[in-house]
Amino acid sequence: MNTEKPNQLQTKPDSLATLGVNIDHVATLRQLRGTPYPDILEAARLVEAAGAHQITVHLREDRRHIRDEDVKRLRAELRVPLNLEMAVTDEIVRIAVRTGPDWACLVPEKRREVTTEGGLDLLKNKKRVGHAIERLKKARIKVSCFIEPSAESVRASKSFGADAVEFHTGRYCLAAQGAFGARSAATTKSELERLRKAALLARKLGLRVHAGHGFDYENVRPVAALEVPDAPGAEPGHLPLIEEYNIGHSIICRAVLVGMERAVREMLSSIWAP
Ligand code: PXP
Repeated sequence: MNTEKPNQLQTKPDSLATLGVNIDHVATLRQLRGTPYPDILEAARLVEAAGAHQITVHLREDRRHIRDEDVKRLRAELRVPLNLEMAVTDEIVRIAVRTGPDWACLVPEKRREVTTEGGLDLLKNKKRVGHAIERLKKARIKVSCFIEPSAESVRASKSFGADAVEFHTGRYCLAAQGAFGARSAATTKSELERLRKAALLARKLGLRVHAGHGFDYENVRPVAALEVPDAPGAEPGHLPLIEEYNIGHSIICRAVLVGMERAVREMLSSIWAP
């Protein structure tokens, strides 16, 4: 899908991980007031122009930010792949199959959560997940499972026929931001190790390894520095262990700050030169 529109900007050597930018919170700002701006497609165009490799959106069941129309427009207009985060429900699976994103990332969803709180419990939702993956794959949509970095979840993803796992890095990221007080440093270290081990297992099983949730410009660095160990006898390769990042909130927050000066200048111009 989307193969007729390659984007030269997004070609990269294998030694670099790719970045999917989650633009949900552009839609959050729009929905806050029900205004026609900010335009989701304009945001996606800027993300593409900056060199990101993928646009990620979460069509939540309550449609609190991204709407069906957004997904349709992105699908029609994007030059980079579209990654649709989605709950494993009949309605959303039907929309995904109809729209045809390049990737579907299966996530757990709770109505009252502020953001996705943990990984998908594949074994608890065996029948539903198996059925959804079957339908998505039949529609030639690649599937990733958003899971905790545990051996059990990695093996379950493999057994369901997923193409990739996306590790929920929320606990690592919170720890790295100091959220657990005196336990933060130790938790950061143990979570990083948990992630490393789970990523190695996933690679060994032939799954692509993605990661996301809670990354900021600093806490992503130790994760991005994790490398695939060199195979015995092979030339040192320095391949990143995590192949793809999906990052949203911190990028949108940064965009608000780095874009502020220009935004104010443009308003002054509207007022002074009507
Ligand atoms: N990956 C998945 C599967 C997610 O659910 C989210 C949050 O919507 C993200 C990545 C991005 O997380 P954040 O906005 O914290 O960067």
